[in-house]
Amino acid sequence: MTRRISGSYIFLLLIEFLLLPKNEVASYRAVAIIHGVLTGSDSMDEISQRIQEKHPGTQVYNTVRYAGWSSLEPMWRQVEEIGNDILAIGAAYPEGINLLGYSQGGLLARAILQRFPQHNVKNFISLSSPQAGQYGTRFLHLIFPDLVCSTAFELFYSSVGQHTSVGNYWNDPHHQELYYKYSRFLPFVNNEKITSNTSTFKEGLTKLQRMVLIGGPDDGVITPWQSSQFGYYNVNETVVEMRDRDEYQNDLIGLKTLDKNKKLILHTVPGIPHFMWHKNMSIVDEFILPYLD
Ligand SMILES: *[C@@H]1O[C@H](CO)[C@@H](O)[C@H](O)[C@H]1NC(C)=O
Ligand SMILES: *[C@@H]1O[C@H](CO)[C@@H](O)[C@H](O)[C@H]1NC(C)=O
Ligand SMILES: *[C@@H]1O[C@H](CO)[C@@H](O)[C@H](O)[C@H]1NC(C)=O
Repeated sequence: MTRRISGSYIFLLLIEFLLLPKNEVASYRAVAIIHGVLTGSDSMDEISQRIQEKHPGTQVYNTVRYAGWSSLEPMWRQVEEIGNDILAIGAAYPEGINLLGYSQGGLLARAILQRFPQHNVKNFISLSSPQAGQYGTRFLHLIFPDLVCSTAFELFYSSVGQHTSVGNYWNDPHHQELYYKYSRFLPFVNNEKITSNTSTFKEGLTKLQRMVLIGGPDDGVITPWQSSQFGYYNVNETVVEMRDRDEYQNDLIGLKTLDKNKKLILHTVPGIPHFMWHKNMSIVDEFILPYLD
């Protein structure tokens, strides 16, 4: 008797299962997108459209905040404002959202996850972002054509320089003592400086389902390019890969934890210049869409 009942119950479940795809549109998590420096949301239109084309029904929130010159405003200010938007978007999707940041936008996104550890972001994708900082002429000259890399620290490691986003993540391997003394942003979000925020900064990242770090050797702007995957220069300008750095070894922000749990995914793609990552749809299809479930 009971057998027969459970048998037909299973049958009903099966019918329901088979009918499901017809009644319910495949549902993808909403995606929030943060653009790079000196551009705005329009630079991320192609990628937004591609996501919606390949994953129909996806709600995409492509921030219009801090476009153009205002993208040079201090990192913490941008983190606060865009971060509140991300929380509001997350509140509308209790099942969680995904977050994608390109270039400076990927570093802003990472800091938002740390500053607001109550977020419900599941997958975070960092598309060629200076996660470990920046020290290179090409990038510098986009914004400050007259500055020289080796002396830029004189401007950036001052209270005036710290009023720019770039100053906030300028990481001069030859002036680390000044970096630690003046930088108001990067040593804090990297938990290299211990404060009352350190543990929540870590929590905001370790709770992720996945952290995806995309970058490559032909980037040309992010310097060293390995910064897109938390690698960085040592004092001799030799690049130390993420897994060999203290940041990872001491698990300061949870990179090691994520890695051990197979939640940290690195994609190294050669042949892609910095301004193509978000314009090359095969990058989007191959390395971004698989994480937008
Ligand atoms: C901790 O974070 C909050 C929010 O960003 C900030 O106002 C505060 O100054 C931080 N505290 C320290 C000690 O850095
Ligand atoms: C940097 O180079 C100097 C001189 O070649 C060497 O003595 C030192 O060990 C190097 N430091 C690192 C961290 O590689
Ligand atoms: C786009 O990226 C792929 C790698 O995913 C590369 O093979 C291709 O050459 C790129 N196309 C352009 C136009 O850069």
